[in-house]
Order: sequence, then C-alpha cells, then structure tokens
Amino acid sequence: MSTVKLMPPFGVDIDLAEGVMADPDRHLVRKASAMLGHYQDADALARLIAAGDPLHYEVFEKNVPEERGQVMFCISKLEPGDVGGECFMTKGHYHTVRETAEVYLCLRGRGFMALKTADGQCLLEPMERNRLVYVPPLWAHRSINTGSEPLISFCAYPGDAGHNYGDIESEGFPKRVFTRNGKIAVV
Ligand code: PA5
Ligand code: NI
Repeated sequence: MSTVKLMPPFGVDIDLAEGVMADPDRHLVRKASAMLGHYQDADALARLIAAGDPLHYEVFEKNVPEERGQVMFCISKLEPGDVGGECFMTKGHYHTVRETAEVYLCLRGRGFMALKTADGQCLLEPMERNRLVYVPPLWAHRSINTGSEPLISFCAYPGDAGHNYGDIESEGFPKRVFTRNGKIAVV
C-alpha cells in the first residue's frame, strides 16, 4: 500500500535571469566561511573570509516531503570569483540514497559540473545557458563557476535523495578548476 499522503498542488514563481525563487520555504546562503577545507589554498580562503566573508552561493527550495515518489527541486545560484585562482564552487555531495539521480538545467552563466564516483572516476561536464547536465546515480556532484556572472541552475531530484557532504569533505574531488590570466586550467 502506498504511504504517500495527498497534498495540494502548488505553483512557484521563478526569476530565471536572476536565479531567485519567490517565497521560498528554504533559502540556503553559503558564504566563503562555509567552504573551509574545500579549496587548495587555505590561506587565500582565510584572507577572503577576513576581507568580509562574501556570498558564495544560494539555494532556493520549496517544502517538498523528503519521500520516495516526490520530486525535490531548487534554484542554485553560484557567484563568480576565485580563491587563490581556484574558481568558486559548491561544496558538492553524494546523495545519501546513492541510487538517486539529478538533473541540472543551466539557466545562466558558464562553468562545469564536476562529477566523481567513489572509486575515483572524475569528469567535468560543461555548464552553460540552455544545457542540461544529467547526474546519474552514484556520482557526487559539484558546480564550478568559471565565468564572470552568476552560474544559475534549476535542479530536480528524488525527494528521498538527501545530501551526504561528509564523504566529499574527506575525499575531495580529484580535479580542480583554476582561472589564470583569463584562461581556464584544470588541474
Ligand atoms: O541537490 C543538489 O545537487 C543542489 O541542489 C545543490 O544542493 C546545490 O547546488 C548546492 O550545492 P551543495 O549542496 O553541494 O552545497
Ligand atoms: Ni544533488
């Protein structure tokens, strides 16, 4: 028997150009200080935090039950910038239920989705306006902004997926993306 409860349908207004959801139930704001341990140059990150701890990225979500059968969705808005040359990025995560996928539809900006598996495979999938990146089950994912404007995506994934940040905090991603003299370098 299904355990899914009947709930009312709802609509959401989204400013696709600004990457802002009207009336979100959750508005996650991560500043530079939320990124400790993620960039190669820890001193550069400390300087950025000391210089005002600027906004790094925002996520706007509606209340969708975190259950199988539901579709969780959000707007993700990652600011442009770099930490010691390394392009601004999200923390990145596996889904807690690793067998769950995700789609990212890029609405604005330019960058990469870094994807990695537990056994060390790592790919960079280009992100730009009108491009959709499919994140299959088992792949951790992180967005990276290589451009000069916000990298904005619409994301959707199973309601029961959950976010596992701990494994990425300990494993990291094998590839890093830098901007050097206006050129992008993957290291
Ligand atoms: O579920 C997702 O993959 C996105 O909604 C991300 O949570 C969002 O882009 C922020 O990244 P992170 O969760 O890695 O901080
Ligand atoms: Ni995800």
